Amino acid sequence: MCGIFAYIGQREATSLLIKGLLRLEYRGYDSAGIAIQANNEVQTFKTRGKVADLGRLIDGKTIAGTLGIAHTRWATHGEPNTINAHPHWSNSKRLAIIHNGIIENYAILKKELSNRGYVFESETDTEVMIHLIDDILTNENVDIVEALRIALNQVIGAYAIVIVSADHPDLLLAAKKSSPLVVGIGNGEYFLASDATPIVEYTKNVVYLEDEEIAIIRRNQELEIKTIRNQPITPYVQKLEMNLQTLEKGGFPHFMLKEIYEQPRSIGDSMRGRVSPKDGIVALGGIIDYEQKFASASRIIIVGCGTSWHAGLVGEYLFEDIARIPVEVEYASEFRYRNPVINESDIVVAISQSGETADTLAAVELAKSRGATILGICNVVGSSIARATHAGSYTHAGPEIGVASTKAFTAQVTVLVLMALMAANKRGTISKSRYYEILSELASIPGKVQKALESNDKILKIAETFKNSSNFLYLGRGYNFPVALEGALKLKEISYIHAEGYPAAEMKHGPIALIDADMPVVVIATKKGSYDKIVSNIEEVKARKGRIIAVVTEGDTAVKHLADYVIEIPETDEIFVPLVATIPLQLLAYHIAVLRDCNVDQPRNLAKSVTVE
Ligand code: G6P
Repeated sequence: MCGIFAYIGQREATSLLIKGLLRLEYRGYDSAGIAIQANNEVQTFKTRGKVADLGRLIDGKTIAGTLGIAHTRWATHGEPNTINAHPHWSNSKRLAIIHNGIIENYAILKKELSNRGYVFESETDTEVMIHLIDDILTNENVDIVEALRIALNQVIGAYAIVIVSADHPDLLLAAKKSSPLVVGIGNGEYFLASDATPIVEYTKNVVYLEDEEIAIIRRNQELEIKTIRNQPITPYVQKLEMNLQTLEKGGFPHFMLKEIYEQPRSIGDSMRGRVSPKDGIVALGGIIDYEQKFASASRIIIVGCGTSWHAGLVGEYLFEDIARIPVEVEYASEFRYRNPVINESDIVVAISQSGETADTLAAVELAKSRGATILGICNVVGSSIARATHAGSYTHAGPEIGVASTKAFTAQVTVLVLMALMAANKRGTISKSRYYEILSELASIPGKVQKALESNDKILKIAETFKNSSNFLYLGRGYNFPVALEGALKLKEISYIHAEGYPAAEMKHGPIALIDADMPVVVIATKKGSYDKIVSNIEEVKARKGRIIAVVTEGDTAVKHLADYVIEIPETDEIFVPLVATIPLQLLAYHIAVLRDCNVDQPRNLAKSVTVE
C-alpha cells in the first residue's frame, strides 16, 4: 500500500505536496518522493525514510512549479531504498510516474522492454509502466493520452498511477484499477490522491475514479475521463461530508476497526497473483526455489511472538494435516535460549508482522547458525527478519497501525495456507480432488470474511452486556484452538480484561473450576472438525451456569439451543475457519475496549514493534 498525491493549479506545488504526503503517511512510510514539472523539465527528489526525511532533503532548495506528483511508499517489489522510491523516470527523463498497486506481468514486460534497449534503474514493477508508455509514445505516432491508454491495455494487475511530462506543462494524467484514486476539484486547481484525506482541506468536491478509468486533467479546463477502452465518462462529482479527523482513519473511529474491516481486501491481496484455481497452481514467488526442500523436509519449526505465534499454531495444523510434515511451534523467546535440536533438513518458518521483533530475529540467527533453512513470513518489506531469512513470502496486508494485530494475523494465516498447499502438492500428500476443492474454496474466503463483518451490530450488543466482566474464557478445538487463543489475546491487549484461551477439552483439567454465573465463555463451535465434542464441552459449561457466547456456522441449531448468545459465520472448509471465525472475536474485543473507554489503537504498555528482548 502506498500513498499518492498530485496537484495542478496556481499554488507552489512543493510544500503542498509534502503536506499531502504527511496526511497519507499511514499508507506507507519506507520511502518518499516528489516530481515537479517546471520550465519544460521534470525535477525529481526522493529518499528512503519518512516524509520528514524528504522534507529535509528539499529544504532550502528552490523548486518552483505549480504542477507535481508525490508518493509515500510501502514496498512490495524491491527493498525500500532511494532508487526504488517513486517517482520513476522514463530513460529520457521526460516522463515521471507514481504508482500504488502491483503489476503482475511486470517480469514479462520488463524482459521485452530490456530487449528493446530500456535501462531499468530500480527493482520496482512500477518502472515497467513508464518505459512501456515511453516506448509506445516514441514508436506508435500517438499522443501521450493514447500512449497511456494503449499501455494500460497491456498491463495486468492493480494500479493507481499519476504521470507528469516535461513536454506538457499543463497536464496531469491518472488512471486506476483496483487501487483507489480520488480527484479533488478546486477553483482553477485539481488534486489527486489515494484517498480524500489530503484533499478535504482544499475542496469538498471530489470524483472517485472507477476501475479502468483514465483522468485527463488539464490546467484551467474541465476534468475529462475516459475508459481504457476509449469510452468517454461523465465525471460524477460528490460532496465530501467527513471531517479531516475521521478521514485520516478512512472514516473509522479507530485504526483497529479500519484494519478489521480491511480484511476482505488484505486476505485477497495476500493471495493475489499466487493462486490460479483453474490450472491448480499455487506459486509463492519468494520461496519457489525451496519447493524441493519442502519435499524432503523432515520437520518444520515455526517461530514467532504474540499474534504471529498464534498464526504459527494454525500453520501447525495446516502443515501436518495436508502436507504431512511434523511441525513444532515455538515462542521465539524460548527457542533462542533453550539449546534446541536443529538439523539441516529442518525448515524454520519465522512469522512476524513488523519483521523487527528482537526475539524472532535472534531465533532466526540461531537456527541459521545451526544450518537450517529459514523462511520468513513478514508484512514489512525489507525489514530485519525479511533480510535475515534465506527466502520468504510477504503478507500483503498493508501497514498495520493499530497496535493489536488484526489484518496481519489473517494475512499470515493466508500465506501459511498457500505454503502448506504448495508443500502438499509437491509431496503428493493430498488427493487432486481435495487440492482443487481447497483452491476453489480459497477464492471465496474474502467474501465470507466480508459476510462475517455483517455481525458487527449484534456483537456490539453482546459487548454491552459483558463490558464489566472481569474474566473471560475462550474455548476451541482443532483449527479453532489457536482462534480461541487469539480471541483472548485481543481482549486482554485492548480492554485489560483477564482472558484465557484454552483447548476446549482441557477445560476439565483446571479452568472448569473458574466457571460460575459471572464467567463469560466464548466458544468457537463451527461445524465439521470436533463439532459434537465441543457441543459436549458447552453442556459442561452450562451445567455450571457459565454464560456462553458461541461462534457458530450459519444455520446451526444444536449450539443455538444451548448458548446464551450466538454469532453466525458463513460455512467454509475446516482449514479456512480460522480466517473467518477470528473476525467476530476481533470485533468483540474492539467493542468491549471502546465501551470501557480504553485507548484501542495504543493500548497501555504495549508496542507495535518489540525490538528489545
Ligand atoms: C507485539 C505486538 C503484537 C505482535 C507481537 C509480535 O507484542 O503488540 O501485536 O503480535 O509484537 O510482533 P511481530 O511484528 O513479530 O508480528
